[in-house]
Order: sequence, then structure tokens, then C-alpha cells
Amino acid sequence: MEHIKVLIVEDDPEKRSTVLNILSNVEYITLTGEAGSAEEALEMLDRAIPDVMLIGAYVPGDGYKLAEKVTGSSPWVSIIMIEEDLREETMRKAIFAGAKDMLIYPFSPSKLVDSIYRTYQLERKKQVIHRDKTSVLKKKSQKGQVITVFSTKGGVGRTFIATNLAVSLAQHTREKVVLVDLDLDFGNAALALNIIPRYTITDVVNDIRNLDHDLMESYLIPHRSGIKVLAANAQPQMAEFINAEHIEIIIKVLQSFFDYVVVDMPARFYEAIDSAFQEADLLLLVTTQDVAAIRNIKACMVSLNSLNYPRQKIKLLLNRAESRSDIKTRDVETTLNYNLYAIIPEEHKLVSSSLNKGIPVVLLYPRAKISRSFLDLTRKISGSSQEKVIEKSENAVEAVE
Ligand SMILES: Nc1ncnc2c1ncn2[C@@H]1O[C@H](COP(=O)(O)OP(=O)(O)O)[C@@H](O)[C@H]1O
Ligand SMILES: [Mg+2]
Repeated sequence: MEHIKVLIVEDDPEKRSTVLNILSNVEYITLTGEAGSAEEALEMLDRAIPDVMLIGAYVPGDGYKLAEKVTGSSPWVSIIMIEEDLREETMRKAIFAGAKDMLIYPFSPSKLVDSIYRTYQLERKKQVIHRDKTSVLKKKSQKGQVITVFSTKGGVGRTFIATNLAVSLAQHTREKVVLVDLDLDFGNAALALNIIPRYTITDVVNDIRNLDHDLMESYLIPHRSGIKVLAANAQPQMAEFINAEHIEIIIKVLQSFFDYVVVDMPARFYEAIDSAFQEADLLLLVTTQDVAAIRNIKACMVSLNSLNYPRQKIKLLLNRAESRSDIKTRDVETTLNYNLYAIIPEEHKLVSSSLNKGIPVVLLYPRAKISRSFLDLTRKISGSSQEKVIEKSENAVEAVE
């Protein structure tokens, strides 16, 4: 069972410490915040993300008014009012404010805990019913395409390629795109897009048993370009709890309702991320035009080959390409004995300005050469899924018939 997150809003020290004492001993209940007034509670709401709010009726700013606001803005939060006596008037106020229950202080520990469990379960049930209804509409006939962006050398531009490719795909194909940050220790895709992750992959993993696409959707962060983002953990130490099976489930669930799943990878092979290779339709190996990066990719190709990784999935991408470089693009191809699938030029100024502004370069400078090179890549990738597009429309015909 997942933890129930509780936010308490109470300014009376005695009531507050009573509640805190009771809850500190209860398994499955986590306190996500304490506020002393309605104003403070509203400020906390976004950060604390409570499932249940315990609201004292007499807090500064009025507990009932606060309850009404929260019901309006965050209807998934269950509210329990703490009152001093049971009167018809207060009951009505609570009902109109959208509270789910009312406790009369002083109350026994079991009353409090029972009320939290019950209101929480009620809300979950409602969500499940809603989910059952919507899932019928959302079922996709075709699995989305998984594009894994990898390199065994850090700093070659995996995150840069993954973020801009995801945005470019969304803009030009108008299909649904999700970006997954699997650089579990150093993930910075959210940062590159200037979004603050409210949830991360750790939340998804904690809920993995119940995971379906509505629950998954609730953990994704929308970006203004239209893509959704599954962010890496805020705390790297959480990464060790994430295993290959988790990642496989996550990718498969995302594939069931996105057309493209773009995966930003760490700079090393290890077991947990193996499914991102296995599930990939395209493995974009990123290199730059220098000896160290090329050597790394060579070694990486040898490893993939020894693992019998399907060669046709592997696509080589040259990033930060410069015509002035001593190593020419031809040299990259001959050294690696592999054709380049795409070339993205070096654009120091545009890329730094895009990073500083937190806006992907393809959005900020759509006409620049670098953005056009992403458009070429997008066309190649979406073109390779043309068959899918045809299959999709055939399925649609079938569905109509
Ligand atoms: N084509 C490019 N032109 C200029 N700068 C680039 C280009 N690609 C990447 N960079 C810069 O290189 C740095 C490393 O890129 P990043 O995507 O974080 O690499 P990785 O994810 O592989 O570690 C970033 O500062 C990024 O802005
Ligand atoms: Mg990166």
C-alpha cells in the first residue's frame, strides 16, 4: 500500500501536537507539511501534494474558506475538518466546503486514523472508476516508437539531442511524445527544459504495482512545447531502488499511449537500464568529432555486437559537427565502419543562449541551421514509422467497420 500524504493546518499548539503524536506512530501515513494558517497552507499545497488535509475550523483565514478553495483548485485532496462541537451550522458549512469528514476535538487516535483511511480510500475508488471509463477511449492500437539516445562518453550531447528531438517530433508530427530521463544519477532533462519536477521516476516506481496509463499520466510533467516529461530522481540515492523490471514496465506503459518515447540515457551500461536498449526501436548512438568520443563509440559498438544487439536498430549520430575540424565526417564513418544517420552542427552561441533561457534550441531558433538538422532527423524517424501510420489508419477503418 502506498503512503497517504497528510497536510495538517492547525494553529492551536495543543491540537496540533495531539494530531502529530497520533500520526507519528501510524504506518502508511506520512506528514507532508504543517501550516498555521489558511494562507500558509495554500502556499504549501503545491509542494506538499497531500492526499488528505486536516483543517482546523478556527485557523487564521478561516478553515472552511480554505477547504472551499482547496476543493475548487485540487479536488483530489480529501479534506477532514477539525471542529470543537457538533452543530448543524458547522456540519452544513463543512458539507458546502466539500469536506469529506468532520472530527470533534478531542478525538481518539483510532477515530483520526480511521477517518484518514476512509476518506482516502473513497477518493481512490472514485479515481479508479473514472480511470476505467477513460481507458476504453484511450486504448491505442499501435505501440509507440522508442528512441533511446545513448553514448558511453558523458558530455557528447545526449540530453541536448533527446530534448530537442522530442520537441521537434512533437512540433512536426503533431503526435504524442514523451521524454524519459533515465540518467538516474545525473538526470538534467527537466532542467534543460526549465521545468521543476513535481514528480519523478521514483514516484512511478513506488506505484509500479498499480501502474496504468492514467496513473502514469499523473506523474508526467507537461512542457509548453506539447511534450510530456518523466523526470529523473531528485535524490540520486533513490536510483538504486530502480531495477530493470521497473524500467521495462514504465517503457511499455508509455508506449501504450504515446507515439514516441524518447529516452535520455546515462553514460554507462548497467543492468537496470537494459530494457531501454531492449525495447528501443532506434538506438541513437551519439558521438562528437574527437578521438576520445569516437574511440568510446567504437568500444560501445563492439559490446553491442557481442551482445547480439540488432545492428539495424543502431543509428549513428554526429553531434557538434564542425566543418573546420581535422577529423572529417567521412573519417568518423570509416573509423567506425558505420554510416552516419544524422549530423547536428556545433552552434555554441545558440545552444548556450537556449540553455540560459531554458528553451530548447528548436523552439527558440526554429530557422537556424541546427534546428533544420533536427527537422531532418525528425523526418527520418517519423518517415521510418510511415508503415505504422498506414497500419494505424487501417486499424481505424477496421474500428469503424
Ligand atoms: N550541437 C551543439 N552545439 C553546441 N553545444 C552543444 C551541442 N550539443 C551539446 N552542446 C552542449 O554540450 C554540453 C553537454 O551536453 P549534454 O546534452 O548535457 O551532454 P550529455 O547529456 O551527453 O552529458 C551542454 O552544455 C550542451 O549545451
Ligand atoms: Mg545528460
